Amino acid sequence: MDFPIKTGAPARQKTACAVVPVFTGKAFTGPVRDIDAACGGLLRELVRSGDAATELGRCMMVPRLPRASAARALLVGCGKPGDFTAKRYKHAAAAAAQALKLAGVTEAISYLPAVAPRDLDPYHAARLLVETTTGVCYEFAELKSKPGAKRKKLARLGIGGIDKHSLDDIRTGIKHGRAISVGTNLAKDLGNRPPNVCTPTHLAEAARTIAKQYAKIKVEVLNEREMKRLKMGALLSVTQGATEPARLIVIHYQGANARQAPVALCGKGVTFDTGGISLKPPPKMDEMKFDMCGAAAVIGTMAALGEVQPAINVVAIVPACENMPSGEATRPGDIVTTMSGQTVEILNTDAEGRLILCDAMTYAKRFKPRYLLDVATLTGACVVAVGNVYTGLFSNDDELADALLAAGRRSLDFAWRLPADEEYGESLKSNFADFANAGSREGGASVAANYLSRFVEDTPWAHLDIAGVAWKANADKGATGRAVPLLTDFLLNL
Ligand code: BES
Ligand code: MN
Ligand code: ZN
Repeated sequence: MDFPIKTGAPARQKTACAVVPVFTGKAFTGPVRDIDAACGGLLRELVRSGDAATELGRCMMVPRLPRASAARALLVGCGKPGDFTAKRYKHAAAAAAQALKLAGVTEAISYLPAVAPRDLDPYHAARLLVETTTGVCYEFAELKSKPGAKRKKLARLGIGGIDKHSLDDIRTGIKHGRAISVGTNLAKDLGNRPPNVCTPTHLAEAARTIAKQYAKIKVEVLNEREMKRLKMGALLSVTQGATEPARLIVIHYQGANARQAPVALCGKGVTFDTGGISLKPPPKMDEMKFDMCGAAAVIGTMAALGEVQPAINVVAIVPACENMPSGEATRPGDIVTTMSGQTVEILNTDAEGRLILCDAMTYAKRFKPRYLLDVATLTGACVVAVGNVYTGLFSNDDELADALLAAGRRSLDFAWRLPADEEYGESLKSNFADFANAGSREGGASVAANYLSRFVEDTPWAHLDIAGVAWKANADKGATGRAVPLLTDFLLNL
């Protein structure tokens, strides 16, 4: 999708549809007033009479505007001006995109960024418009045997009514918004593909594809024999029951001098989590195809970096495997030696994410990263704690945690900090190994984070538990691509 900047006078812009924000109890100003004046005050009259609602997200398509150079106008309710925030701006942008999509409009000009709220600078206003519009237009139809209702697709959304002083910021916002959308769409595709298609090998292929697309990206893929040589006993214990081969995918983005320490990103890539011998109950088990969304977020973020080409170094490590029960599967009670040398008693084979991540994190340390981040659909307990709104953030470093929280707020891809203090490790005590992989249910997200913290030593580290936000359930079941905006924003701000 294209997002050209339209600098011409709003009233004289030729377009199939002008997207016009309208507020409750606020006189038209700026570009909106000009467009309204061109059609003789028709829009103002529609709002005044109450025919067009101004509540947030309410839309009205006005066809055949008299005398105006826009063929039609889409009035988008933005609510009370005093209530208008970045979140509500995004809501309005999503509603407008949905209305354009339903109307089959292929080209439009949006005047939403021209009225962006005070807590949203022009750069983020443009970026959010691009991300939100692309997000609404995303469809996953590659496995439908027949095409759905053939609707024309929105191909171009101009950005109009822009103040000349913010042109550069808007341009950068569009560029970054497109890059984040490329990453988010990739993460959604990987997440949405069924587990018989999106296997560890498929994730490795996706990584190889982005290495072909972007000159600054290189990929290495390790197989199980190589993992054995590296003594990744924890990772291998998870894949042991599966027939599908595991992969350790290492993606290098080199945008700066090779001597500059990279940021390391580890992403949980369990392409299907049955629970193993600690088998999960049947309801919603299909959703465990999304248990590789940490991996997808990390791969998507690398693609976004490939698009923007910032002067930093980043290495992504994706441990990818299935968690299956079988005659060869790991038993509860088995003890394994992790790559770090620490031994773990596997009390619950369904706590497999931490087992693959701990070896991936130990491996990541060979790149001497300045920050070590991991992203995972790690615990149901995190869903109980913060629901489907916030990512759970755990860190051993306040500065890093604050930077990630700020990136979450700027990108509206929110994270909330939760504790991982040593008290949460009490229940991981084992009489037989150094510690166990599962402990008390209470504070389960923090127990898992505490387990991971035993593999980082003094590297500044943060763990993002995306279990509640990585996908939506029910009628709009599907991957969200969450954590790509947060991670990309964080990395672009280094
Ligand atoms: N992939 C799951 C976590 C999960 C569950 C994410 C539901 C999203 C929705 C993870 O591997 C898991 O099974 N965790 C267990 C850990 C427990 C056995 C200590 C959990 O959360 O129940
Ligand atoms: Mn599990
Ligand atoms: Zn899992």
